[in-house]
Amino acid sequence: TVVPRKDGTIEAAWTALRDEAAHCTRCPLCQAATQTVFGEGPLDAAMMLVGEQPGDQEDLAGRPFVGPAGQVLDDALAQAGVDRARLYVTNAVKHFKFTPRGKRRIHAKPDSGEISACRWWLEQESRLVRPKLTVALGATAARALTGRTVTIGRERGRPIALPDGGEGWITVHPSYLLRIPDAGKVAEETARFIEDLKAAQAHAE
Ligand code: URA
Repeated sequence: TVVPRKDGTIEAAWTALRDEAAHCTRCPLCQAATQTVFGEGPLDAAMMLVGEQPGDQEDLAGRPFVGPAGQVLDDALAQAGVDRARLYVTNAVKHFKFTPRGKRRIHAKPDSGEISACRWWLEQESRLVRPKLTVALGATAARALTGRTVTIGRERGRPIALPDGGEGWITVHPSYLLRIPDAGKVAEETARFIEDLKAAQAHAE
């Protein structure tokens, strides 16, 4: 457990944690990934957003949600009136998992062993940031935070108790919106995602 240092601050503890995570070998995903993509944002954030794992662009940039899913997230946050600069944004799994296909790297879902191995980092981030509300983007994040399998449709858009005593809020992953083939459904699901984010912020205030 990371505890804030006597001589310093939450910031010092967080920096030490991030530096330690840069060398993480708790699971094999560190071998093929470029780098650890740790969480970022103000440590006094009222809301923490948790995604699944970095994608191709995040792996190269070393920052969460900067690729296509990040663009969808940024647009939805803007429409929900949520300032990303005030959020702590992280992922359940901190290395990119992929299958090589020619020159491309195709996203692969992290398995339960990888999610469990990485949960320790997420717990430390939660302990330092102590957000009022932790928003799980998609089933992987929801599972990492609750320790159980979550059906998003049944539990989204309302507060749920987390095992660490905090409050969680479940919604879809932004990349889900990128995979919907029907344009009408995209608009409908995007609106729901925006509503979830708006309601989460109101709850966290
Ligand atoms: N998808 C995620 O879940 N996290 C990222 O950081 C990028 C894409």
